[in-house]
Amino acid sequence: MAEHYLVIVNGSPRRNGNCAVLVEQAAAGARANGAHVEIFNLGELNIHPCDACESCQEANGVCVIQDDMQKLYPHLRQADAILIASPIYWFSVSAQTKIFIDRCYALQGAVGNLLGAKRFGVMLTYGDVDPYTSGAVNAIRMFQDIMRYLEADLVGLVYGSANAPGEIRDRPEVLEQAYQLGQQLGS
Ligand SMILES: Cc1cc2nc3c(=O)[nH]c(=O)nc-3n(C[C@H](O)[C@H](O)[C@H](O)COP(=O)(O)O)c2cc1C
Repeated sequence: MAEHYLVIVNGSPRRNGNCAVLVEQAAAGARANGAHVEIFNLGELNIHPCDACESCQEANGVCVIQDDMQKLYPHLRQADAILIASPIYWFSVSAQTKIFIDRCYALQGAVGNLLGAKRFGVMLTYGDVDPYTSGAVNAIRMFQDIMRYLEADLVGLVYGSANAPGEIRDRPEVLEQAYQLGQQLGS
């Protein structure tokens, strides 16, 4: 049987931030279950916002914006599972994450529903101690709506409070949840 392919998208610009820690945990879990894992750090990529030209809907899923999203599209198409990690910025996902999501517009509609059969996971970190007042719940609601729209399986959500880069390491239960989500998405 072909190797399971998990694509992880990290929407934090902090190379050693809390999302990065959770991403490493999830990747380790997935690899332990034999999956092939690729990690894309959006902060290191040049990805423009969707400009609503609708070309992708006229050209069967081909986005005309020539930037680093073109590197991601083949991986997103091939992935069996996609895991999105984001810090909470202003009570929602980071702009990097939202721009990435908007550009996934090309993977649905005229071309069919290319994401609907994939399994998804979401990981969020935030500075506030409360998932409600931090805005994490807003982001969770957004992902739930996206998955309902795509008719995709949201396998798991991991979220935890941490502010300084890497502080999430002090939350072993959150690290364990990230590892387990990786295991689930990797098999
Ligand atoms: C621009 C900006 C906006 C933020 N907005 C929020 C917020 O609305 N709610 C919150 O709880 N934390 C907020 N934070 C804190 C981050 O969510 C928190 O530090 C998170 O753990 C960062 O993850 P990272 O280390 O992976 O980048 C914000 C941080 C920045 C830089």
